[in-house]
Amino acid sequence: MNEIKFYHGESIPLELHKVRVVQKLHLVPIERRLEALYEGGFNTFRLNTKDVFLDMLTDSGTNAMSDNQMAAMMQADDAYAGSQSFFRLQKAVEDVLGKKYYLPVHQGRAAENILANAYVRKGSLVPMNYHFTTSMAHITQYGGKIAELLYDEAYVINSSHPFKGNMNIGKLEEIIKIHGAKNIPFIRMEASTNLIGGQPFSVQNLRDVRAIADKYHIRLVLDASLIGENAFLVLQREEEFKESNMGEVMRTMTSMADIVYFSARKLSSSRGGGICTDNPEIYRELEALVPLFEGFLTYGGISVREIEAMAVGLYETLDETMISQSPSFIAYLVNALDAHGVPMIKPAGVLGAHVDAMQVCDHIPQKEYPAGALAAALYLISGIRGMERGSISNQRDEYGNETYADMELVRLAVPRRVFTLSQIKYVEDRMSWLYDNRKLIGGLRFVYEPPVLRFFMGGLEPVSDWPEKLIAKFKEDFGESL
Ligand code: F0G
Repeated sequence: MNEIKFYHGESIPLELHKVRVVQKLHLVPIERRLEALYEGGFNTFRLNTKDVFLDMLTDSGTNAMSDNQMAAMMQADDAYAGSQSFFRLQKAVEDVLGKKYYLPVHQGRAAENILANAYVRKGSLVPMNYHFTTSMAHITQYGGKIAELLYDEAYVINSSHPFKGNMNIGKLEEIIKIHGAKNIPFIRMEASTNLIGGQPFSVQNLRDVRAIADKYHIRLVLDASLIGENAFLVLQREEEFKESNMGEVMRTMTSMADIVYFSARKLSSSRGGGICTDNPEIYRELEALVPLFEGFLTYGGISVREIEAMAVGLYETLDETMISQSPSFIAYLVNALDAHGVPMIKPAGVLGAHVDAMQVCDHIPQKEYPAGALAAALYLISGIRGMERGSISNQRDEYGNETYADMELVRLAVPRRVFTLSQIKYVEDRMSWLYDNRKLIGGLRFVYEPPVLRFFMGGLEPVSDWPEKLIAKFKEDFGESL
């Protein structure tokens, strides 16, 4: 991609779009933010966006749509069966992802449910580079287990490794030999591995995984929810693809998988999702489950308007200047916070900037959820809503024991083309203030813990009056500033 240089040598990402529809934001006083935290059980998922200034919870369904997507939504063809909108989407899936058969589903986890229902049984083991919360929950729901096979480098916070999402090939072969290929319904590769900081895998690594899958006759499933970003980082970081374009890299990746599934809330900046394949047998195996769980095969629980937006959004994913916007803002934020000494996941990945709460809150034991505490504290002092990606997001083991996360992260998502650079600078400012005052942050404990995906609706409370102390210090330094 051509870099745009500034006369005075600054290195800042330049927006290659203009804003034509805006939404007013509210930065409510810190006292209201404290009330909102108590009302929402110190869980940022449970905040009302009326109380949120910068919503960095996720990029899921929050990426900005383009003028062309909005225009396409007006031409949607409402039909229960045989909608023209569906056929436009099917063509986009074939053009962009290179797969002939496409099954629509209402979002990414619905695809995970269908795949687990079709292939996972008690005693199944699914090797993967790393789990995503919903993919793991569906596999365990159907009685299966997962094995996470990253290289050690993936867990190094301050790293320069370009592909921390790579699967450990030696471990993959070892685990297949131990468990037997017949107990492994599929190998799952996640593009831009979400929970370790949006870190990509290389195309070469995917080739190596494919070779093992071929050797043992195991299906390879690609979670392509963040495939655009993974492809963008391949263009930047993998020598072999220096001269390629987005489409070539994406299709090279998808061509290696037997099944590709995705959340369109991420890929294509719309709503919905899908499962696609070139294999008619696989298509037949999965086909019947779509009307059962989702809706008829030409809408799959997605509104026809969103189907149109998805089709246009898929083609737009091929535009490097669109896909690069979020990763370049993330790199800017990561580098700026790193310069302040804030421990960040490096190299900068995709989806968001990830703060290492284990280091920021090294005085809070894991059983008091340092990442949850940091996310709550950041909201309190700034109105910025991040997401806990640590032990609260983990699920208990089959005996009901707490399982502590490998990493305690606070994710500050940067949805595509949503924030301006001055807003990113505000994040940098408040996060670095919080880092300098980190010892004032205290732990959390559960008061309400749901049995499944507890992080969504769980309720917690502070273990002491640390939020009030943090407010006192904020007032000392910022006076009456919001
Ligand atoms: N796979 C990956 C890699 C994801 O990041 C997500 C969702 C899903 C599957 C499930 O898709 O939400 O459409 O059902 N990630 C969101 C996030 C929720 O905030 O990172 P979904």
